[in-house]
Amino acid sequence: MTETEIPDDIADPLARAGARLGPFQQRVCWHEEVGSTNDLATAAADAGAPEGVVVAANAQSSGRGRLGRTWASPPGAGLYVSVMLRPLPHALPLVTIAAGVAIAEGVEAASGLSPCVKWPNDVYVGSRKLAGILAEAGSSSAGDYVVVGFGINLRPVPFPDDIAPRATSIEGELGRDVDRGLVLAECLAALANRYRLLQGGARDAVIAAWRSRAAQHLGRPVEWDAEHGTRRGIAHDIDARGALLVRVDDRIVRVISGEVRWIS
Ligand code: BTN
Repeated sequence: MTETEIPDDIADPLARAGARLGPFQQRVCWHEEVGSTNDLATAAADAGAPEGVVVAANAQSSGRGRLGRTWASPPGAGLYVSVMLRPLPHALPLVTIAAGVAIAEGVEAASGLSPCVKWPNDVYVGSRKLAGILAEAGSSSAGDYVVVGFGINLRPVPFPDDIAPRATSIEGELGRDVDRGLVLAECLAALANRYRLLQGGARDAVIAAWRSRAAQHLGRPVEWDAEHGTRRGIAHDIDARGALLVRVDDRIVRVISGEVRWIS
């Protein structure tokens, strides 16, 4: 759990990215193993740290995914990272949408792959998941915050049986090694850029970038559990607060949380 010196292969690309890292330039904490990087970033927020804290690890013993799932985090297989932000109220609803776009952009800049996004905030290459995002909001005496945790699969280690057919990794896709420090630096730089836009009110630019990365999934059938049973429709778009808009017969239904199952 102890913070250690940042390894050179991570520190060097971060140093080269310099001011492009925006708020993430100030404080990057590296751990060889933690329970969950989200927990440490949340502790920093609760202790009153300014936004921009980055907690990154080589392994997690209790990595969490969305909807109470586990995020398998073996040593060196992925990047396990959490950043702490204190968004303005108008920016908050789109932070995870912006983060999905940014992770896709960062992976593309570092590897040449062209990932897409899938609502709410998964990053895919083709039909396989490459990265996931877990955003956890909170409030402390220093104000409201959101911890954005992202896990990016770097290496094609054996994934747990239930996710293996639907998971991929950067190196598995490329068929060669990838510079993990460059992946981290480019993702943080892209996130800094998207977050700056969002804070400045450029919501439409973030939504447009999300739409173009989501084209593969929009127009596809989805289903979700609603109060009176399962509902089905066609994924249509997102709205200005990041909700999924689904066409059901001749109406548009807003889906805001929970599990959306993509059919086909
Ligand atoms: C998902 O797709 O279910 C979200 C996965 C999020 C995993 C990351 S890894 C870094 C951070 N720490 C955690 O415990 N979870 C997130």
